[in-house]
Amino acid sequence: MTSTVPFVRVCALSELEDDTPHRVEVDGVPVSVVRTEGEVFAINDICSHANVSLAEGEVEDCQIECWLHGSSFDLRTGKPSGLPATRPVPVYPVKIVGDDVLVSVTQES
Ligand code: FES
Repeated sequence: MTSTVPFVRVCALSELEDDTPHRVEVDGVPVSVVRTEGEVFAINDICSHANVSLAEGEVEDCQIECWLHGSSFDLRTGKPSGLPATRPVPVYPVKIVGDDVLVSVTQES
């Protein structure tokens, strides 16, 4: 698909608790929606190291930590801050409209 991917409503802003990842699926893609430090971020829910849900990890300093081996991923860029993960996790644009949280998932390639 080459057309621009629309934003999809994933949850209500009031459903999100600070620093508590909320797992959703957008067009079949698992996404962790995280409200922290006054902003909302969307990051692919699967760790780049192994097939593990990041939504089960902890959020601190605008990073989400993979619970299995401890790599943390920057919620703004998806980049890992340390081993064992070396590849970034995709992050997605978020829009807030009223109390709705919308995410646009664009497929890589
Ligand atoms: S599975 Fe996430 S760091 Fe290993």
